Amino acid sequence: MGRFATGVTIVTAHENGEDYGMTVNAFLSVSLDPPSILVSLGRTTDTAGALGRTGLLGLSILASDQQEISERFATRLSGREKFRNLRTHRLRGVPVVEGSLGNLLGEVVQRTSYGTHDLFVARVLVLELGSGDDPLIFWASEYAERFGPRKIQLRERPAAPPLSRKGSKAPEGKPPDLKGG
Ligand SMILES: Cc1cc2nc3c(=O)[nH]c(=O)nc-3n(C[C@H](O)[C@H](O)[C@H](O)COP(=O)(O)O)c2cc1C
Repeated sequence: MGRFATGVTIVTAHENGEDYGMTVNAFLSVSLDPPSILVSLGRTTDTAGALGRTGLLGLSILASDQQEISERFATRLSGREKFRNLRTHRLRGVPVVEGSLGNLLGEVVQRTSYGTHDLFVARVLVLELGSGDDPLIFWASEYAERFGPRKIQLRERPAAPPLSRKGSKAPEGKPPDLKGG
């Protein structure tokens, strides 16, 4: 799954005066009408628990200079520690991250459990553009600010030998040309 490049979001919830949030890249737009999104959250996470009870989901799409926020929200800290000194504002009481590419507030309309995760479908109630410019990208378990250097690295990797047909030998010959084009 790590071969699939994604953006990074922070999914948030608010319950009884407490803020919850976690880093999530399992996020997609599922419908334009009604505008709806889906996130997949580990069932044992605090955020999934709060979200299941309140039904109101906040989501911020992180900008390239917000890697530290992604790392902080991916650790099992208390909500208070995660949000300490973080610039946020609230959409119907649910915190969203300032400086992101965009924020939304959604109302959970469907929740499905599968394996270790809960899938939440939420209808978008509020959508706002943020002040961030470039996306934070996550790929192969690392953050990438730009695609260029990665692309070159991939091109320089030796190509896999051609697959042989059943009963025939793979052709031997000169090693793959690594210079690329
Ligand atoms: C880049 C990145 C993306 C992640 N995406 C997800 C995800 O889509 N779903 C998920 O359940 N956990 C995901 N995680 C892991 C959670 O952020 C992590 O388990 C977090 O500690 C859960 O917070 P909580 O238990 O305090 O609520 C991701 C982590 C990183 C670093």
